[in-house]
Amino acid sequence: MHIGVPRETLPGETRVALTPNEVRTLTGEGHQVTVEHGAGDRAGHFDDEYLTAGAVPGTRADAFGADIVLQVHLSGAGQAVVPASAEQDLALMRSSTILIALANPLSHPGPVSRLAQRHVTAFSLDLLPRITRAQGMDVLSSQSAVAGYRAALIAAERVDKLLPMTTTAAGSLAPARVLVLGAGVAGLQAIATARRLGAVVRAYDIRAAAREQVESVGGLFVELPLDTSAAEDAGGYAQVQQEEFYARQREVLSKEVAAADIVIATAQVPGRPAPILITEEMVRGMRPGSVVVDAAAAQGGNCSVSVADDTVLLSGVSITAPTLLAAGAAAHASRLYARNIANFTRHLLGPEGPQLSSDDPIIRDTLLTHAGRIVHPQVRELLGLDPVEADPGAAPHVGTAERR
Ligand code: NAI
Repeated sequence: MHIGVPRETLPGETRVALTPNEVRTLTGEGHQVTVEHGAGDRAGHFDDEYLTAGAVPGTRADAFGADIVLQVHLSGAGQAVVPASAEQDLALMRSSTILIALANPLSHPGPVSRLAQRHVTAFSLDLLPRITRAQGMDVLSSQSAVAGYRAALIAAERVDKLLPMTTTAAGSLAPARVLVLGAGVAGLQAIATARRLGAVVRAYDIRAAAREQVESVGGLFVELPLDTSAAEDAGGYAQVQQEEFYARQREVLSKEVAAADIVIATAQVPGRPAPILITEEMVRGMRPGSVVVDAAAAQGGNCSVSVADDTVLLSGVSITAPTLLAAGAAAHASRLYARNIANFTRHLLGPEGPQLSSDDPIIRDTLLTHAGRIVHPQVRELLGLDPVEADPGAAPHVGTAERR
């Protein structure tokens, strides 16, 4: 198969979907890879390195003209109106092109309709099921781990204190106090990083299982008087709660937030806006010089004061809300992403070429569009479409007749 890797165009994005290592493996397996000129520059991989690995550097049209297009972000993902540049990318793809990317379709389903209209077979890696078999493809976990690490470093850089306990001839300094809200993959990595820097770290998550995980990375689990019996779904994800729950949570969290020098907020509910856990009033209750890093900013943020990709100063407290945290460590984030997406591609292709089997949860859960139709049930629902057509099993397998 011919695999294309376009340059990422989202402002602030530095990652690339395939690194030379993965190119080498895929070309070794018999695939042809075209990488758009300069696609890996910001991740430290220049065209000559891709060439040595067996890829052919080409134009954007060459990359989008491949049988399979691999991206970090679907062009236009996360935007309510599909921008002109994304339309241009779409026009470069042939009908029957297979596209694999982060499409964020549950928050912004709009661009999915255009993929269907163009007869692109699109997969969104952010819908990958968290099953053991899919761990090697789990971009959410790999990128969240990088994001959590980066969030802790950004906080450490901005706060007006040292993180470790420090003894000098001029006196002793107590360690900084860090509060982490949401102890999923990003939160746990933030806890571990802040601990390694010497801070005292407290953390809270509404999932009961998080306590043991928080403690295993050196954090102290915060007990809150909340009824969390309906906090978790069967898949182990947090469920959205009633607004009264969040109001009570903010109330009981106020003291914890006020006592922290750093708050790193990572709480998210899949497919929903992130819950507001920190209000303006709570920020005003913090010590001037302290810091909030809102790592849930891409989903709207956990702090009501946050402005995406900006820093707000309120009562001397700095609230920063980066939406592309993983892009801050482009080389390693790309290396992990590339391994994940190459594993997914390999799984999709199998020994006999792409098979869109509805029996395979990895394919079924990630498939957005095929043969001119939106096939993902949740996305159809979000777009107000009839659910009858939602069964991907009804979609014909992608056979060689549909490929170039
Ligand atoms: P996420 O990014 O969707 O959310 C981050 C965290 O926020 C979650 O731990 C969630 O429980 C928490 N949260 C939501 N609402 C909250 C609130 N009101 N207050 C405090 N915390 C709140 O989560 P992520 O990191 O994607 O992990 C989701 C689940 O998937 C977890 O159970 C995790 O253990 C599991 N997982 C399983 C993997 C596997 O391969 N089996 C791999 C990675 C994660």
